Amino acid sequence: MGDHLPFFVMFTQSEVLKTPQLTLRPFEKRDVERLIALINQWDVASMTAGMPFPYTRSHAIAFLDRVSLPHARALAFDNFIVGGCSFMPRATGDFEIGYWVGKPYWRRGFASECAAALVERAFADFRTRRITAGFFVDNPVSGRVQHRLGFNPIGRSEVFCTARGCFVQTQATELTRAQWQARTSP
Ligand SMILES: CC(C)(COP(=O)(O)OP(=O)(O)OC[C@H]1O[C@@H](n2cnc3c(N)ncnc32)[C@H](O)[C@@H]1OP(=O)(O)O)[C@@H](O)C(=O)NCCC(=O)NCCS
Repeated sequence: MGDHLPFFVMFTQSEVLKTPQLTLRPFEKRDVERLIALINQWDVASMTAGMPFPYTRSHAIAFLDRVSLPHARALAFDNFIVGGCSFMPRATGDFEIGYWVGKPYWRRGFASECAAALVERAFADFRTRRITAGFFVDNPVSGRVQHRLGFNPIGRSEVFCTARGCFVQTQATELTRAQWQARTSP
């Protein structure tokens, strides 16, 4: 196995997770229009590292061509997508999560539910030692989503933001298995 490959893959290709309001399912080709509508918004793209802005049809098609890899899930609500999330196993036993929600759907608890489901699922695999996440320091809402789940700050760095075309101060966070168990044990 090459160095660049994770030593395990957390999710099977078709795996679906359920939260109280959402279904986290694989992306499908038919999601192209929704992706454009939801991501081609500055307030969404500019808070992520990798989303380009403007976000065009060719960006959406290129993304959908790649997502057969089991690293991304769409957030489906009432049968249409409202956002997305990603989960990247690392060779060290760490697991990195990310999420975004389309602006019309903010403040309904979607990101919190999504992140909680990813945490549960990641730690269900005994090999997961810790989960990492992060947020741009000018995005405190995302910071609070992580904080409420028990993530702790571990350091700051400059991360390149594709939409802004510059580096942005970024707070890295982590949730170790021990911290998670301490929160979830009776
Ligand atoms: C940051 C982001 C993911 C938050 O998504 P969200 O679905 O709105 O998050 P939640 O609804 O779980 O929580 C957001 C706030 O809504 C509140 N909320 C949740 N459900 C609510 C409800 N039913 N009514 C009112 N408020 C509610 C939460 O308490 C939280 O409040 P706080 O910010 O004061 O702590 C979203 O704004 C986003 O995608 N932004 C652009 C991309 C991005 O930032 N991605 C994350 C990169 S790290």
